[in-house]
Amino acid sequence: MSANLGVPAETAGLDQPYDAVSRAFHWLVAALVAAQVAIALVLPAVLPKSAEETIAAWHLAVGSTILLVMLPRLAWRLTHPMPPAPTDLPPALRGLARGTHWAFYAVLIVLPLLGWTAANAYGATPRLLGLIPLPKIAATDKAFAETIGAAHKTVALLLVVLIALHVSGALYHALVKRDGVIRRMLPGRGAAP
Ligand code: HEM
Ligand code: HEM
Repeated sequence: MSANLGVPAETAGLDQPYDAVSRAFHWLVAALVAAQVAIALVLPAVLPKSAEETIAAWHLAVGSTILLVMLPRLAWRLTHPMPPAPTDLPPALRGLARGTHWAFYAVLIVLPLLGWTAANAYGATPRLLGLIPLPKIAATDKAFAETIGAAHKTVALLLVVLIALHVSGALYHALVKRDGVIRRMLPGRGAAP
């Protein structure tokens, strides 16, 4: 049969893009997370010590904005159908991709909550979008702050591992498989031809 000429019929579904809201959420969160990782890991290394407070304020502002965006994103995800995974992928890879996606939702909600708790325990008040002070969810307690702060850093490391895994998967689809998976998440694009 001609199944190996062009895209086999069983990869059907790749011509179905993510809806515009999901794509907007995806790239907004990806940009915020890229900014947050740069603020947490790059700025402290390149800016003078006198900039520490400014860096911390930006960290709390961008981090709490990620939480603000992730909650409606999760609600959207749970109430809207998403395009199916390519059916020609081995089940293990499909499971890995799906697991990575759900782990992003969990980590991008738990991580800001741990950060908020640690910030309060250190005696700081995070400001949503840098403006609106968030309510206090933990009493000031330095030892507790250090424990939660360490958990926050560990989960941030897990996030970096997830990003590496996810971007490797995206590049595998774009450069090796050359299927329509990347296209259906790109902004402003419709279905694959
Ligand atoms: C996706 C969001 C976030 C990421 C990727 C992230 C990442 C990180 C990383 C990598 C560190 C360690 C920095 C270092 O020691 O050099 C850190 C520390 C910290 N973050 Fe976040 N963070 C996020 C959200 C937040 C939020 C929302 C808050 C507070 C509202 C927050 C508060 C803190 C605090 C207080 C520390 C210091 C912890 C300590 O040293 O004990 N973070 N964060
Ligand atoms: C920190 C950055 C990123 C996060 C947190 C993230 C998160 C996610 C999540 C949660 C999904 C699943 C969407 C859903 O079903 O709700 C997804 C899908 C996707 N992401 Fe990302 N992403 C990031 C960066 C990137 C980058 C840099 C690329 C491209 C190089 C990319 C390409 C894709 C593609 C193509 C899909 C669709 C996968 C499919 O159709 O099965 N992502 N991303």
